[in-house]
Amino acid sequence: MATETIAATEVGSYFVSNYPPFSQWTRENVPEIDEAFEREPDRSVPMGVYLHIPFCRKRCRFCYFRVYTNQNAKAIEDYVQALLKEAESISRKPAVQGRSLKFVYFGGGTPSYLSSKQLRSLRERIGQHIHWDQGAEVTFECEPGTLSLEKVQTLKEIGVTRVSLGVENFNDAILEENGRAHLSPEIFRAYDWIRQTGFPQVNIDLIAGMIGETDENWTRCVEKAAEMEPDNITIYQMELPFNTLIAKDMKEHGISSPVADWPTKRRWMSEAIDYLATRGYQVSSGNELVRNLDTDHFQYRDNLFRGSDILALGVSSFGHFQGVHYQNLDRIEEYQKAVDEGRSPINRALRPTPHQLLIREFVLQMKEGRVSAATFRDKFGVDVREEFSEPLRNQEAAGYLTVDGDEITLTRKGLLQVDSLLHEYFEPQHRAVRYT
Ligand SMILES: C[S@@+](CC[C@H](N)C(=O)[O-])C[C@H]1O[C@@H](n2cnc3c(N)ncnc32)[C@H](O)[C@@H]1O
Ligand code: SF4
Repeated sequence: MATETIAATEVGSYFVSNYPPFSQWTRENVPEIDEAFEREPDRSVPMGVYLHIPFCRKRCRFCYFRVYTNQNAKAIEDYVQALLKEAESISRKPAVQGRSLKFVYFGGGTPSYLSSKQLRSLRERIGQHIHWDQGAEVTFECEPGTLSLEKVQTLKEIGVTRVSLGVENFNDAILEENGRAHLSPEIFRAYDWIRQTGFPQVNIDLIAGMIGETDENWTRCVEKAAEMEPDNITIYQMELPFNTLIAKDMKEHGISSPVADWPTKRRWMSEAIDYLATRGYQVSSGNELVRNLDTDHFQYRDNLFRGSDILALGVSSFGHFQGVHYQNLDRIEEYQKAVDEGRSPINRALRPTPHQLLIREFVLQMKEGRVSAATFRDKFGVDVREEFSEPLRNQEAAGYLTVDGDEITLTRKGLLQVDSLLHEYFEPQHRAVRYT
């Protein structure tokens, strides 16, 4: 049976970003990742790093990330020092030594919350421990109101190649109601600085389904995004995970969901794809549109979806190394204490079975809208059309995808709700597991 669609936007997460689900990773499995760092690596596998900056000016009402607001300058500096210490310690691991970073991702929270001085120091000192490839893709997430021309120039100076700006919406009343720290003038100001400075790739994030969204406003929002001509536009459909302020409010006050239902959000997403196609954008995944599919690559995503080695740096960061999943401690005090005392901050891990690694790469690549069976035959020696014959047949019959020779291609209908389709490829024991 194909998954039933859930109409109202109730509390819960549907977005699939890994497999097996995070709730299956345990502290008891941490020795698996310790061992993976000691073992001789496959040096042909690309290696990158995800670096988490957990600070924000304000907590958005819809946000589910581990973030801290109102931290003083000393707390932030202490955190930067802990990151540097963690980087140094990881660089000494036998499986990391002698390898260089092909991609770097500064995520958050809000990396652009850090000062130019701290950013230069991170770049310089991490580079002293782990070599960054000349051509490394360096992605950097920004909240518009945290930027200045000087900070944008610092990003260029430290080698950022892909600036990602959290725009979310252009309507000030909507931005305010959803708890964003910025309003629209800050978006345009920041965007001008980014353009003026010049980066190989600029992405803007939008969310379909913010509280207060309407048909007319969404149309204007997508038109404005196209007018800005970024290389990449990412559109998320609003989710309400358990740890968001909105979910908390709904529970405490017994109110119904203030967010548009799923069919409406999917229609908005679909209209955005249609309109952006007239402005030269092509679909590169269920969330992303790019100007040029052949040249606008997103190394971090492509590597994440294909099992490359990703070192996790920072509180609550996720990594994947030599086939083992892991995550750092997710409270800043505990993370910093561990690093300060020279202990590993890794809190939970899981070594997926070869079959689980196959499922992981298959479901993540489904999010790109197309999967080639040939790739999986070459890498895993498995024909995914046979391995997943039942869900593929059901989802094809329901109009979510087509299978033509080796090519599995999602239809528009499938792409708009791809995350809800993926659980059917999971092992039975993980299908109903809460996804945190
Ligand atoms: C870490 S933030 C980006 C950088 C910066 N913190 C900011 O918000 O501008 C990553 C993105 O996740 C998306 N996001 C956060 N919470 C979400 C939710 N509940 N549903 C859908 N998308 C969400 C937003 O589009 C946000 O830009
Ligand atoms: S969406 Fe971005 S700015 Fe808002 S709380 Fe989350 S990480 Fe911070």
